[in-house]
Amino acid sequence: MCNLDSGRHRGHHQPRTVTRGECDLVKARCGPASHQRMPLSDLETKALDEHFLICSYVHGYTASQGDAALFRQFKCAPPSHLCHLLRWYTHIHSFGRESASFPAAKKESLTLLINDKEVTIMVNNSMEAEGQGEAGQPPAPEEDIVTPHTVQASSNKGIDYDKLVDRFGSSRIDEALLERFERLTGHKPHRFLRRNIFFSHRDMHRILDAVESGKKFFLYTGRGPSSNAMHIGHLIAFIMTKWLQDVFDVPLVIQLTDDEKYLWQKDATKKDNSLEHYHSLARENAKDIIALDFDVNKTFIFSDVDFVGGAFYENVLKVQKHVTFNQVKGIFGFDESSSIGMIMFPAIQAAPSFSSSFPFIFGNKKDVPCLIPCGIDQDPYFRMTRDVAPKIGFQKPALLHSTFFPALHGASSKMSASDSTSSIYLTDTANQIKKKINKYAFSGGRDTVEEHRELGGDCEVDVSFMYLTFFLDDDEKLEEIRQQYSSGKMLTGELKAELIKVLQKMMAEFQERRKLVTDETVKQFMTPRSLKF
Ligand code: TRP
Repeated sequence: MCNLDSGRHRGHHQPRTVTRGECDLVKARCGPASHQRMPLSDLETKALDEHFLICSYVHGYTASQGDAALFRQFKCAPPSHLCHLLRWYTHIHSFGRESASFPAAKKESLTLLINDKEVTIMVNNSMEAEGQGEAGQPPAPEEDIVTPHTVQASSNKGIDYDKLVDRFGSSRIDEALLERFERLTGHKPHRFLRRNIFFSHRDMHRILDAVESGKKFFLYTGRGPSSNAMHIGHLIAFIMTKWLQDVFDVPLVIQLTDDEKYLWQKDATKKDNSLEHYHSLARENAKDIIALDFDVNKTFIFSDVDFVGGAFYENVLKVQKHVTFNQVKGIFGFDESSSIGMIMFPAIQAAPSFSSSFPFIFGNKKDVPCLIPCGIDQDPYFRMTRDVAPKIGFQKPALLHSTFFPALHGASSKMSASDSTSSIYLTDTANQIKKKINKYAFSGGRDTVEEHRELGGDCEVDVSFMYLTFFLDDDEKLEEIRQQYSSGKMLTGELKAELIKVLQKMMAEFQERRKLVTDETVKQFMTPRSLKF
């Protein structure tokens, strides 16, 4: 490959921009203009692996033609020991033809430092690959859309999560990770982990390394308080977080983004769009969250409207200074007509990832690692956070991503709090739960009993069965139900009865605890104070 390092002295940390004239020279040295690809050397792939340990892309936060050009220099996937390079490769590969519409490369080369030597890899477009105009094979015609503000599956089977891992460039939660969880905590992994409801992660091994060497980390999660009517789908990340807090015995911060929901509210027909409204929803939602039984000695809940200031705001500013409009445009789809509140908001969701935002909890420890359990739709915020972290001297937060909780009507979208028949609310009575499941839960059963007995039900599309995978903890029982239902021995009504039992019990317990949460309890959780850990 082309190594531009011709002995000229350059500062090590100054990646060098290659001028056009030099590129031509390089092309000439690289080989004939027949567009032949030179294989990357071992040194170069090693240097790239190190680059992708820190960075998501060749340059900056979003894929560019630089990534497409580098991708084309690979004849096949890099070996698995170069895991960061391989993750990048799989990610770029997943774009298929879409890569043709990546924006232009920022620079024409990538200069890396390895063993104190500079290695320059050309990532310009002048070396067209043989007969291949884009990064990989053609993808499905339509892609699932997953962003913080839009979730839409392209098929009625729901979001293709497996593909999403590659597109987002995250890692799968696999057996090896689960074994490590179990070894370190002495607990069987939570059913959300065992059943791939949390299916993807970033840097989870780094968190487990810290645990292994006796260090603590902290948990961060959040909620945008858009409505008073929380439904069971809203609980998933919090249930996971609670379990993690219990088994690792670590502090937790919960961000309530009343500011975000105020800024994003466009619906003029909605009764109350005032900032006060969202601010008070934050406190109401905090009650439901607290009712999941979080430990007040280890948990700090805050509303952005109340809390942003001081050390937290210092970190918001650091993030703001290092992220450009172009970058958030690429990540969140903002344009010139987006409000400036929206444009800067991602910095506020980033700041809780850094322990120095909470000096009353962490003292002057600026490097306590952070783990964020969240829905996969929140990943764009944290891709931005992870990219900016090293630039402002902080560790990147680690992530655990969940799938979406399916709506009663079927798995093709996230549950919506505004459609009362699509969700089970935290306030629904035992009888309402029963009625909703029986009436609305999309069934994978057959049209007639005879047909059902003969062909069996389809667990893959059956919402009641899906809900059981979320809430029935007993693996053997779940497997038995799966077999009975898919062989036709169990009818839809019987399957629904199993789910109703599980949900009624869970909700009754939740509602009992919810009754005990007072304004005083909320105040305790929301007061900045030191936590036990
Ligand atoms: N933006 C999230 C929402 O609309 C709220 C949120 C803030 C969040 N910080 C978070 C969610 C961290 C998960 C993790 O719901």
